[in-house]
Amino acid sequence: MKKLGLLFLAMVMLCACQKPENATVKNTESKNTDVPKQSQPTSPQLDKGVGPIKEVKLDPIDKKLAKTGKLIFEGKCMACHKLDKKFSGPPLGGIAGKKTPEYIMNFILNPEGMTKDNLSGQALLEQYLTAMPNLQLKTDDARAILEYLRTTK
Ligand code: HEC
Repeated sequence: MKKLGLLFLAMVMLCACQKPENATVKNTESKNTDVPKQSQPTSPQLDKGVGPIKEVKLDPIDKKLAKTGKLIFEGKCMACHKLDKKFSGPPLGGIAGKKTPEYIMNFILNPEGMTKDNLSGQALLEQYLTAMPNLQLKTDDARAILEYLRTTK
C-alpha cells in the first residue's frame, strides 16, 4: 500500500514537472503563428465572408435568373454601385471573378457583419466611409443578383 502511494506521488510530481514545460512550448507556438482574433483566409479566392451563406454551388449561368438579378440590382444597388467605377460603394462589375459567391451574397444579406467581422469588409468601410445598408433582401434575391454579377465584366 505504502509503495503504491509513493508511486502515485512520484507520478504526480512527474506530471507537475512536465506541465510548465508543455505550457511554455504552447506559448511560444501561439506567439510564433500570431493567429489573428478571427482567423480568416486573406486570399479573396477563399474568403467566404461572414453571414448566412456557407456554401454556394455554381452552375453555368442561368440567363433568366440573371435577368431577375439585373432588375433588383438596378432598383436597389445602383444608387450606390456602378459596374465600372467607384461611387458611394466599390465597383461591382466582374466581382464574381474576384471574390467568392458566398462572400458576395453575405455582403448583400449581412453588410453589418461583413464590415465588422470580415477583414476585407472592414478595409472597405474604412476606405468608403459609408456603411452599406442592410436592404432586407431574401436569399433568393441575393442569389439572383449574384447571377447577374456573374454576367458583368
Ligand atoms: C447606400 C449605399 C449602398 C447600397 C444601396 C448598396 N451598397 Fe453595397 N456597398 C456600399 C459600400 C459603401 C460598400 C463598402 C463597404 C461599406 O463601407 O459598407 C459596399 C460594399 C459592397 C460589396 C463588397 C464589394 C467588394 O469589393 O468586396 C458588395 C458585393 C456589395 N456592396 C453589393 C451590393 C448589392 C448587390 C447591393 C444591392 C442589393 C448593394 N451593395 C447596395 C454601399 C451600398
